[in-house]
Amino acid sequence: MIIDSYNRIHNYLRISLTDNCNLRCFYCMPEEDYIFTPTSKLMQPDEIETLAKIFVREGVTKIRLTGGEPLVRKDAADIIIALSRLPVNLTLTTNGTRLHEFMDVLLKANVRSLNISLDTLQAHKFCVITRRDQFKTVWDNIHLLIKKGFHVKVNVVVMKGLNDNEILDFVEWTKETPVHVRFIEFMPFSGNRWTSNKVATLKQILEKVEEKYSFISLPHQKNEVAKKYTVPGHAGTFAIISTMSANFCGDCNRIRLTADGKIKNCLFSKEETDLLSALRNREDVAPLIHQSIGSKAKELGGQFTTNFELIQPENIHNRSMITIGG
Ligand code: 5AD
Ligand code: SF4
Repeated sequence: MIIDSYNRIHNYLRISLTDNCNLRCFYCMPEEDYIFTPTSKLMQPDEIETLAKIFVREGVTKIRLTGGEPLVRKDAADIIIALSRLPVNLTLTTNGTRLHEFMDVLLKANVRSLNISLDTLQAHKFCVITRRDQFKTVWDNIHLLIKKGFHVKVNVVVMKGLNDNEILDFVEWTKETPVHVRFIEFMPFSGNRWTSNKVATLKQILEKVEEKYSFISLPHQKNEVAKKYTVPGHAGTFAIISTMSANFCGDCNRIRLTADGKIKNCLFSKEETDLLSALRNREDVAPLIHQSIGSKAKELGGQFTTNFELIQPENIHNRSMITIGG
């Protein structure tokens, strides 16, 4: 079992396959010209499999593949198939642009649930946010997956003045479509133009939904980060991930492995533990995993207070989101 000093059992591993992406969301990519990690520094498929097996032996039961965009990696299909042979619940977070090319692989790998990022229902705004004209591809792929029976969660990063006026449209989408919309509070990362006044909080999002709908809470499962709701009669649900205004660190079970093979014990941790170099040097990796998780901070990487309005983004030491992988 991988357990930290606050008795949190860590059984959920998020593996970033690459820091590359075919979209350019401003809140995720740093503003300056970003140089993607060269392939030689990335974990190779056999290294990913070896490390994943070690994590599983130590108690991991769920693996999520992330990025950047995991499906831009040329060997993504091989990695998915290899990991599907492990006794884990395998899933991924994707921007949805390439899913149509991966239907057979996902079915073969028995991936049943996926998280897809889509911050707007308006094609022109999609171009502004992602700097790429791919709305229709993502939209069609979401519906293709739903038709094929996948459980589809759509991640919406809510940013005031940008897409907070679409909250009701997203909830309306759940009326006829069995889609699970998850509104995410905007989080600060290096170079992502975060300011506290752009955060739409859990409370504010719920107040917005209340203007038009009456909704009920859905039961909360252990380790779940989203607070879930549904409008009675709707085919889908909506949820809120309130990292900033009401964190869920007390229940955290997540370990992150970056594409260059480093453990981050928290999305907001400063320190990293280099597993890939250890593996390449034929050192024992398992003790490093336990040490890393053993030193995990109580909440928010120990970097900021729970009052997000006091956060000074320039004082946060972290990677940008694209190099962490959600
Ligand atoms: N704040 C909140 N969510 C973010 N994501 C990326 N950057 C941020 C941020 N600054 C989300 C993406 C994706 C998931 C991996 O993380 O939208 O859905
Ligand atoms: Fe790519 Fe996702 Fe980052 Fe957008 S948020 S740039 S789709 S990794």
